[in-house]
Amino acid sequence: MNMISTHMKLEQEILRLEAMSKQGESYSDATGRYGWRNPVRRDTGPLLAAQVAAHDAYRILEIGTAHGLSALHLANGWATLEGRELHTIEMDDEVGLQAQRLFDGLGLPVKVHIGEAMGVIENQLQGRFDMVFLDAQKSHYGMQWNALVSFGLVGKGTLLLADNVIDRKVECTSLFQALNEQGISYQVIPTECGLLSAVVG
Ligand SMILES: C[S@@+](CC[C@H](N)C(=O)[O-])C[C@H]1O[C@@H](n2cnc3c(N)ncnc32)[C@H](O)[C@@H]1O
Repeated sequence: MNMISTHMKLEQEILRLEAMSKQGESYSDATGRYGWRNPVRRDTGPLLAAQVAAHDAYRILEIGTAHGLSALHLANGWATLEGRELHTIEMDDEVGLQAQRLFDGLGLPVKVHIGEAMGVIENQLQGRFDMVFLDAQKSHYGMQWNALVSFGLVGKGTLLLADNVIDRKVECTSLFQALNEQGISYQVIPTECGLLSAVVG
């Protein structure tokens, strides 16, 4: 499949998942196990793609796959699939495996790591990521970022994006603290939920 066809397929799948999300709302049962996972809002997805393109991100890490909507937006920012990798972490195995089937069907170089994020960071990931997107538990953002730093998975030039830093600002406190302690300045893009953007200097 050439890249134009890939982008067309991605756009179709993004529309399909957005429609499902609207029908299902988030977390349809008490545990959220079979429910729709609160995905990125419509104002945020295209921004993710634009950031991938602007940063020319080859290796991307996402924490919080859910049904794969944000991962599709991230992949939509690639101009080519050559040399590109997206690693995404999901602790709900059924949801993660379903997302992996979606990515495989589209021929995307996306690997879903099933497991709790801290364990995956420690045991399954290697190499430096050009870009990280945090979108799982907000109160874990700081801990996850610190782990990525200490395992050398991020470094100079890595672009960090994190969702929900406005609508769930208090829960994101640990990330603000971690970045402040590391002397990393950040901006908050005023999307509906708030998207934090920082580049490691
Ligand atoms: C907000 S949803 C992600 C939405 C997705 N990024 C999107 O926009 O399409 C958060 C997901 O993170 C997963 N999750 C929450 N905490 C996690 C953790 N500690 N480790 C791995 N996955 C986690 C949840 O199971 C859920 O599917």
